[in-house]
Amino acid sequence: MKELNSNPILSVKNLNISFNTNTKFKKHIVKAVDDISFDVYPGETFGLVGESGCGKTTTGRCIIRLYSPSGGSITLHGREITGPMTKELRRYISSNISMIFQDSMESLNPRMTIAEIIGEGLRVKGLKDKNDILEKIYAILEKVGLTREQAGRYPHEFSGGQRQRIGIARAIVVAPSLIIADEPVSALDVSIQAQVINLLNDLKKELNLTILFIAHNLSVVKYFSDRIGVMYCGRLLEVASKEEIYQYPYHPYTRALLSASPNPNPLSEKRRERLVYEPAKEHDYSAEKPEMLEISENHLIFASQSEAEQYRKLYERRIENDTNKKC
Ligand SMILES: Nc1ncnc2c1ncn2[C@@H]1O[C@H](COP(=O)(O)OP(=O)(O)O)[C@@H](O)[C@H]1O
Ligand SMILES: [Mg+2]
Repeated sequence: MKELNSNPILSVKNLNISFNTNTKFKKHIVKAVDDISFDVYPGETFGLVGESGCGKTTTGRCIIRLYSPSGGSITLHGREITGPMTKELRRYISSNISMIFQDSMESLNPRMTIAEIIGEGLRVKGLKDKNDILEKIYAILEKVGLTREQAGRYPHEFSGGQRQRIGIARAIVVAPSLIIADEPVSALDVSIQAQVINLLNDLKKELNLTILFIAHNLSVVKYFSDRIGVMYCGRLLEVASKEEIYQYPYHPYTRALLSASPNPNPLSEKRRERLVYEPAKEHDYSAEKPEMLEISENHLIFASQSEAEQYRKLYERRIENDTNKKC
């Protein structure tokens, strides 16, 4: 895990995001994100995981202020960014945060060449010298496994995997302090997914990138994240280091999500039991309300006090078992 004791680059606190979906006849509010809090520290990859519709994209879009929060706070390098949108705040956010989107066809302007797409951010950042910009574009193209000869081409001339490389190049060329990658490989063929993940992993190490990595299952973030936040129906249910999430998952939803990931070992794959998360059966919050509680150092679970007590006991027992096994 990276420097958890340093100041976070991004700090999300009690974030709420609602959508008004009123019709002519009915008032309706969708609570897409419900009181979530997490920090992203310099040099780490924080994986935000949960099934489709749980609020991951909405969270990402709110951080870059495509949406405004209904409540809570978001700070970037300690500066609050939820206030009224000014030109200066827009510039502050876009010069600090880059996005990598799921759908590269939609996110790359079809009428712009690759050089124009990648160079746009550099110009916004204030670079003026044409040759300087071009050299930076060529260098970044080579870094993501493309060639300088491809700079004059248009997005439709590339494969899905190559377009995602272009999206990555556009994101990193401006040296952002945070990258939000929203399911960057979900739309790609499985064989291409590994290549793009490996590329991101190499770049992450080489450039010491800080990434908020959004995914809908735990298998993609397994090789990629330092810490993981598990989201369900707009809420964060468990936040811990990757090792802890895989070795000591406590929330029943995290366990269900883990059980959904295929196991590369055929024997354990045969034994894999799919768990189903049924909140009404798992929890009784009628007397005790749940909240984010720490069950071991930096391992947080959305639970009532009595649930947390059980998780803590289980945790201690497991640690003891593992220590005995090692002896
Ligand atoms: N612009 C919008 N207007 C109304 N509801 C929305 C909008 N965007 C997202 N939602 C709703 O918010 C919830 C979370 O969506 P989203 O953040 O896209 O989930 P995820 O990225 O985890 O799949 C869903 O119920 C979705 O229908
Ligand atoms: Mg999404």
